[in-house]
Amino acid sequence: MPFDNNSFTRRSFLKTTAAGAGAAAAGSLFPSFVLAQAPKLRVGLMLPYTGTFTALGVAITNGFKLAVEERGGKLGGRELEYFTVDDESNPAKAPENTNKLVQRDKVDVLIGTVHSGVALGMAKIVRETGVLWINPNAGAGDVTGPLCAPNIFRTSFSNWQTTHALGKVLKERGHKNAVFITWKYAAGEEMLGGFKEGFEKEGGKLVKELFLPFPQVEFQALLTEIANIKPDAVVAFFAGGGAAKFLKDYQAAGLKGKIPLYGPGFLTDGVLDAVGDAAEGIETTLHYADSLDLKKDKAFRLAYAKTYKLQPDVYAVQGYDAGQLLAAGLEAAKGDVGNKQAVIKAMASAKIDSPRGVFTMSAAHNPVQDMYLRKVVGKENKVVGIAWKALADPARGCKAG
Ligand code: BEZ
Repeated sequence: MPFDNNSFTRRSFLKTTAAGAGAAAAGSLFPSFVLAQAPKLRVGLMLPYTGTFTALGVAITNGFKLAVEERGGKLGGRELEYFTVDDESNPAKAPENTNKLVQRDKVDVLIGTVHSGVALGMAKIVRETGVLWINPNAGAGDVTGPLCAPNIFRTSFSNWQTTHALGKVLKERGHKNAVFITWKYAAGEEMLGGFKEGFEKEGGKLVKELFLPFPQVEFQALLTEIANIKPDAVVAFFAGGGAAKFLKDYQAAGLKGKIPLYGPGFLTDGVLDAVGDAAEGIETTLHYADSLDLKKDKAFRLAYAKTYKLQPDVYAVQGYDAGQLLAAGLEAAKGDVGNKQAVIKAMASAKIDSPRGVFTMSAAHNPVQDMYLRKVVGKENKVVGIAWKALADPARGCKAG
């Protein structure tokens, strides 16, 4: 176990959170007899609502709110008040945006974000203030690695997790070498690293790493380079609007059908309506798929479609599970979010009945989860099988601090 939840909880929260310290000393901020008058739970949503990741931010918001509505609009008996900040997927604005929610709006819990670089900017403030943080997407390894802390949880994945199983998949398909193409920032680099590690273990060789700055989508020169290299396979990480553009450009460049394309599932999740047949047949690995035979998933998909007139994707699931995880913490603490020991203990030991399948939290507070192999068939990311059962992030560098 990289750190001891109990000792860190005591030390960190007595030191950093005035309200939490008072609550811990007093036992409970909102004893059950005053719960009826308890103020609303202040929830900060820091997500991208503009730019290439807009659809991801919206899906996460929808998913989170659906989990709350399913509980009658209350968590642990408390109504919620939302505070929203568009982080624009801009790491440079991350400290200022985080402070708007934490210092100005005094949120009890922070939900965000999508972009790994923004999440790294949030982490410092979250660690200093001790505010409860549930990260519903950004996969930056450091967040549940060297920067891990009792008040930091993630309901999505680490970047490493999403590509590690791809090495085995490519080996099984007979590919001996590959090119990786992505945006040059933490998520792209870490997904490349996870793939490389897994592929090399299988005897494969990563022959070229191709990058362009985030959020650029001028792929032509790099696609020409791929055509010249003629690798056995290409692995790509792009997401949202960038993924849709890449899939269409790959097809337009005449590479589809010639050089097989793979990726972490972000490449094909939430974009199939926008890309015609450009994604047909592409295999990806991810912790969610469109055709899981799970009762929970069927109920979730139905409720999501009914509420939002949209099909859910992996981002909606991660937002929904952020709501479910927070519910577990607040129910255990009877709505007293100031009782951080109780909230954190319940969240750390929760078994989340997710649409993706049941998952638990690692000691570093990252999901331990199955990685599915999926294949695009029509407008669905269909399950082919489980590429890696109960994959845990190695949480390198996470210790008791
Ligand atoms: C990230 O920056 O961590 C990320 C963004 C979109 C999809 C997956 C990961």
